[in-house]
Amino acid sequence: MSSTAQFMTPALRDDEEEVEQSLRPRRLDEFVGQARVKEQLAIALEAAKGRGEALDHVLLVGPPGLGKTSLAHIIREELGVGIRSVAGPALERKDVAAILTAVEVRDVVFVDEIHRLSRAAEEILYPALEDFRLDIVMGQGTAARTLTLDLPPFTLVGATTRTGLLTSPLRDRFGITFRLDYYEDGELAAIVRRSAGILGVEIADDAADEIAGRARGTPRVGNRILRRVRDVAEVRHQGAITTAIAREALELLEVDEAGLERLDRELLRSIAEKYAGGPVGLNTLAAALGEEPDTIEYVYEPYLLQLGFIQRTPRGRTITALGRAHLGVASEREADARLF
Ligand SMILES: Nc1ncnc2c1ncn2[C@@H]1O[C@H](COP(=O)(O)OP(=O)(O)O)[C@@H](O)[C@H]1O
Ligand SMILES: [Mg+2]
Repeated sequence: MSSTAQFMTPALRDDEEEVEQSLRPRRLDEFVGQARVKEQLAIALEAAKGRGEALDHVLLVGPPGLGKTSLAHIIREELGVGIRSVAGPALERKDVAAILTAVEVRDVVFVDEIHRLSRAAEEILYPALEDFRLDIVMGQGTAARTLTLDLPPFTLVGATTRTGLLTSPLRDRFGITFRLDYYEDGELAAIVRRSAGILGVEIADDAADEIAGRARGTPRVGNRILRRVRDVAEVRHQGAITTAIAREALELLEVDEAGLERLDRELLRSIAEKYAGGPVGLNTLAAALGEEPDTIEYVYEPYLLQLGFIQRTPRGRTITALGRAHLGVASEREADARLF
């Protein structure tokens, strides 16, 4: 992980994982924003509970840090059932079989990064999802037989960054699909204030707004910035977070007004200067920045696209007028900083 990606990359250190857990909303009413999703989920949950049935399989789609894992746990909490959480890429056929045979009635099985399931793992899931049936092949060659096990009804909750990455037979087996959108600044401010409360740090409302405005529409980013700002408030000041302290910390972290970090600005500058505004292909761009193409595409670009700073064209990435304007402002500021 490059150090410039400190707030954005999905990989977490263990201690960060722990804090993230503590900040996670536990119940649906603690989950801020995403009003549509919450409303639809509340109805589906109540209906399933009322009928005493397992909830339909749920697919959660959205960029990293918007609350997919939180929602999976909320679903289990609201249903009052057990949960098994696993990561798609690590699952082999036998792991899926082991998980499914251990499942209890109406349990939740949460598969993160479900678009990265192996083909074998995916195929064993199909009958399980459709008919709550597990086909196990015993023995080999001509002596091979298929043993069919009946499973209790359960709910698969899958999370993915993009539905386009899922095979269509798998996608078709989800009864419910929720797409999470980037959060509004007001919602992010509410999340930052809630997290500050849990962390026991005092924060002024306008300081929470300041952090929210630079959080890239992403609760995880807002929470991470909050924790770094808290460090600055504790080490250099009296502990409470004011707007001035938030700004001082954000400057130190090189997070600009639009919430861009250094690598975002390098990406913009690279398209603008090295490739004369583009179009430049993803692989070329990734090589120029020393990052994986996947990281560029799924971690950095979505927010730059959302801001309208870049565009994806069939021939590659281009920078927009807005993107250029942002670079202009950013470099003026850097020049100002050098003057003083
Ligand atoms: N709607 C929300 N309300 C409050 N906090 C949230 C919300 N969504 C996400 N968070 C916070 O952001 C962090 C990341 O959320 P997570 O569910 O792990 O995202 P994802 O699985 O989509 O990457 C969580 O620790 C949680 O504190
Ligand atoms: Mg997650």
